[in-house]
Amino acid sequence: MTVCEYKPGLEGIPAAESSISYVDGQQGILEYRGIRIEELAETSTFLETSYLLIWGTLPTTDELTKFEDEIRFHRRIKYRIRDMMKCFPETGHPMDALQASAAALGLFYSRRALDNPAYIREAVVRLLAKIPTMVAAFELMRKGNDPVRPRDDLGYAANFLYMLTEREPDPLAARIFDICLTLHAEHTMNASTFSARVTASTLTDPYAVVASAVGTLAGPLHGGANEEVITMLEEIGSVENVRPWLENCLERKSKIMGFGHRVYKVKDPRATILQNLAEQLFEKFGHDKYYDIALELERAVEEKLAHKGIYPNVDYYSGLVYRKMGIPTDLFTPVFAIARVAGWLAHWKEQLGENRIFRPTQIYTGSHNAPCIPIEER
Ligand code: ACO
Repeated sequence: MTVCEYKPGLEGIPAAESSISYVDGQQGILEYRGIRIEELAETSTFLETSYLLIWGTLPTTDELTKFEDEIRFHRRIKYRIRDMMKCFPETGHPMDALQASAAALGLFYSRRALDNPAYIREAVVRLLAKIPTMVAAFELMRKGNDPVRPRDDLGYAANFLYMLTEREPDPLAARIFDICLTLHAEHTMNASTFSARVTASTLTDPYAVVASAVGTLAGPLHGGANEEVITMLEEIGSVENVRPWLENCLERKSKIMGFGHRVYKVKDPRATILQNLAEQLFEKFGHDKYYDIALELERAVEEKLAHKGIYPNVDYYSGLVYRKMGIPTDLFTPVFAIARVAGWLAHWKEQLGENRIFRPTQIYTGSHNAPCIPIEER
């Protein structure tokens, strides 16, 4: 066996062969199953895109209708899951609540028939259907309210916004939210997807696969960055303060949230689409002063850091979009998870197709034959 050079963060080391998505980080291209993200955002829906990611082809009208009907049927959560969630502390982070709830689904649907396509489909449907309901339920219950039942007459995105805000959303907001889900649905071998594949490779159940990926997505260097972008823009406070704030940040060698990417060395194509969606929302529902701050910061960062390939990533403008829709800041990452479940499930299914348990090696840097000193002599 050839011994490879150690690369911290496994940078550039392939962890799987995959036909699900493709990124060209130099040209800013993202494709799902060979289709450009811009085209899917324009013409497809999140559930249609999820079908494409998981089963490899765009569905026919009949296939899509059947898939949407199955998901609609499975949106409700068991009262015992709801009651379990009621016991979660209201101060807990919604990502922790989501991770615990996703894992809890495994208690109810634990059968592991991984070689049975009907089981795979059932698990896909249940996870895509129930995760939005669980995110919305935690939000209402932490405020002391009962969760709102899903509404069968509403589409996937509109129903989530309805369960969250208890109001039927404006059609433009619902469509934009659906596009946001499409944009976040999949992104090659990122940290949470890797985590999902490692967990999948042990042949555990899909609820454990998703729970482990949710835990990985929660970190501020991954999905958690969208929350931190809003905190950062609030801290900057005004357009005038952008450049002094940035100088100070760079002097302290702090990372600017929402910028930089392991793969993209140009502006993330999803950030460009999200910026456009944010502008549509501001036009219809009123301007947000934090957008002016964000634009100025993008200009200032480009002047200082473009030579390092540091440009806005997907998290930079998504927070401003969600904020305008009335989504609380600490739900931005759970919303990311609602979308990314599609990608995680596609990778789960692909991993099962050619499975070999992940078992990398390590370079041992410790000592040998060390004495085991009795406790009283230490
Ligand atoms: N702000 C300032 N400088 C940065 C930033 C940033 N956001 N990102 C990278 N750099 C600099 C680094 O300091 C480094 O400079 P150096 O060569 O002078 O030491 C250089 O650019 C390369 O950066 P790395 O940290 O090596 O890049 P890496 O690929 O390891 O990290 C990451 C990528 C984690 C996304 C990083 O850019 C970051 O922390 N960004 C902020 C957090 C963020 O927005 N995360 C969301 C990513 S998208 C997602 O997960 C959905």
